Amino acid sequence: MAASSESRALRVLQISDTHLHAAADSRMRGVTTYATFLRVLEHVQRDRRWPPDLVMATGDIVQDESRAGYERFRMSLEPFGIPVASIPGNHDDPNLMAEILSGGSFQFCGEQRHGPWSLIFLSTFLSGEDAGGLGNARLGGLRKALAAHVGQHVLVAMHHHPLPMGSAWLDGVALRDAAAFWEVIDANKHVRAVVCGHVHQAAERQRNEMLFLSTPSTCAQFLPGSEFFALDDRPPGARWLELHADGRIDTEVAWARGSRG
Ligand SMILES: [Fe+2]
Repeated sequence: MAASSESRALRVLQISDTHLHAAADSRMRGVTTYATFLRVLEHVQRDRRWPPDLVMATGDIVQDESRAGYERFRMSLEPFGIPVASIPGNHDDPNLMAEILSGGSFQFCGEQRHGPWSLIFLSTFLSGEDAGGLGNARLGGLRKALAAHVGQHVLVAMHHHPLPMGSAWLDGVALRDAAAFWEVIDANKHVRAVVCGHVHQAAERQRNEMLFLSTPSTCAQFLPGSEFFALDDRPPGARWLELHADGRIDTEVAWARGSRG
C-alpha cells in the first residue's frame, strides 16, 4: 500500500549557532559567519530531504545582538517559504529576536504540533550569562506543555546542553538545572528526543528510551573532549531529522565540506 501523506515522516532541518553580525562580512573564530551560513543552506538544498517541513534554529542566531543580524537571518530563510522556529542562545537578544523572528512563517519559542509529533521550543536563556537555566517558571511551563501533548511523540529543542559533553570549559556553561530538567523529562515517557545547539559539535546518544542530540554550528566548530577552548577543523554543518509516525527518528549531520569561509 502506498504511504499516505499522513504517514510520511516529518522532515526537520536543525541549524544552530549561526552567530551572524550586523555587517555581512564580519568574521568570528576565523570564518565569515554569514558566508558559512549561506554555504550550509546551499549544501542542504542539494539533499534528497530538501525541502524540510520545518527549520528549527537552536540559538546564537546573532553574535552582536544587532537588529541587522536578525533581519539578515530572516531574509536568508524567508524566500524558501518554510516555517522557521527559533529559540534564543546566550549570545542572543530575546526581545529583538521575538520581534523580528515572529509572524508569517516564523515562530519564537512555544510549541508546534505536526500530526503525531509535537515539538517544544524551550528557552534556556539567562540574561548576562553564558550558561543556561530554566528555573521554576520554565520548568512549570515545560511540565504543562508535556501534559498537553500526552499521546504524541515529543521532541524538545533547546540551546544549552543538558548532558555533559566531556569538555571542561563547555560543561561550565551548560544547563545549570539539568537535574531538574531530566526529572521532568523522565516523568514523561512520550519524549522521544532532546536536541540542543551551543556546543558546536555533533553528538548522538541514547538516554534510556530517548535520543539526545547536539548539532554543529553553521560556522566554526569546537574540539570535542577538550578541557580548554579549542577549535576543531570540521566544516560548518546542520542536522537533518526525519520524525516517523511511529516515533522513530532518523538523523544525520550534513557537513558542508570544503566550505570554510
Ligand atoms: Fe551558545
